[in-house]
Amino acid sequence: MEENREELRNVLLPLLTPYKMGNFDLSHRIVLAPMTRLRSYNFIAQPHASLYYSQRTTKGGFLISEASGVSDTAQGYPHTPGIWTKEQVEAWKPIVKAVHNKGGIFFCQLFHAGRVSNYSFQPGGNPPISCTDKPIQTDQHIGGSGGAIFSPPHRLTIQEISQVIHDFRVAAKHAIEAGFDGVEIHGANGYLIDQFLKDKVNDRTDKYGGTLQNRCRFPLEIIEAITKEIGPHRVGIRLSPYANYNDCEDSNPEALGLCMVEELNKYNILYCHVIEPRMITQFEKLETKSSLLPMRKAFRGTFIAAGGYDRSDGNEVISRGEADLVAFGRLFLANPDLPRRFELNSGLNEYDRSTFYTHDPVVGYKDYPFLEDDS
Ligand code: PHB
Repeated sequence: MEENREELRNVLLPLLTPYKMGNFDLSHRIVLAPMTRLRSYNFIAQPHASLYYSQRTTKGGFLISEASGVSDTAQGYPHTPGIWTKEQVEAWKPIVKAVHNKGGIFFCQLFHAGRVSNYSFQPGGNPPISCTDKPIQTDQHIGGSGGAIFSPPHRLTIQEISQVIHDFRVAAKHAIEAGFDGVEIHGANGYLIDQFLKDKVNDRTDKYGGTLQNRCRFPLEIIEAITKEIGPHRVGIRLSPYANYNDCEDSNPEALGLCMVEELNKYNILYCHVIEPRMITQFEKLETKSSLLPMRKAFRGTFIAAGGYDRSDGNEVISRGEADLVAFGRLFLANPDLPRRFELNSGLNEYDRSTFYTHDPVVGYKDYPFLEDDS
């Protein structure tokens, strides 16, 4: 009887079934997607983040932190956290502990903005760095209009590229020191790594540009450095080959995605987290014939899909075997008890986009209600 009920549940609610991700026993497949919330101060995560993350923690649930800068050149937005100084590491510790106290598994997303930045965020007022010196040609910006103006970037030399790889490696070490269970490398959405990957931006003529293999070199060297530092069993990467955010597009996203996952297999990393082709723009779902299936089939580790999912298509993608886990951003932001709501098929709180990126430590951050008063 009990067994039948369990079987029925697995058929009806694939998102609520357990999954073994490497050494981690996940109790369900609903992942908190990495989301920039602009609630840090002076590039230091703040104590109020403990409650925000722990509200979204379930025993055996998997959470990915907001993007955290790997060095003092990494930032492109104010009020984002970093993980390159001792003080920043110390600030993360109680936040990670709050998640662990509720039995969650917490990875730190390691980030570099590259040219999606402005002189004012850079040490000494220097230009931001990139694979190119071409400035970003868009007024798209986080939270819409009114954001920073993008400054023309400095094209990294080979020697400077080695320094950035080193920064990622040290940041990964710091994340483990802070207590995180692992790291996710942010290789998506038009930031530094994606700038190297995409042929619309990468105009280098050295070993980091030109062929697909060459464009994949920078992220793979970061993977190599980080896996040497902390081991492959706690390293993931997020990619968005199909997206064109931040003026970062590729002429052949299928080939780019496949090349990356095939190369990633050589490092035995834990997971690959990919944004659906339908999320070409950041805000709307588009009709598209493209699919993540070829990447999913080629990748040997855990495959996480993200991009505008709801309960119904999240369950479908798992039951069809097209992903192992699904990351939810906006729905999880507005519904701290999302796994429970999915389980009960209850109503959902609506998200309020106008408060996504305010710096308010409560409103639009920790005040979304739970189903009952059991927060
Ligand atoms: C994003 O992935 O869209 C992103 C990452 C880091 C930020 C803002 C947005 O600071």
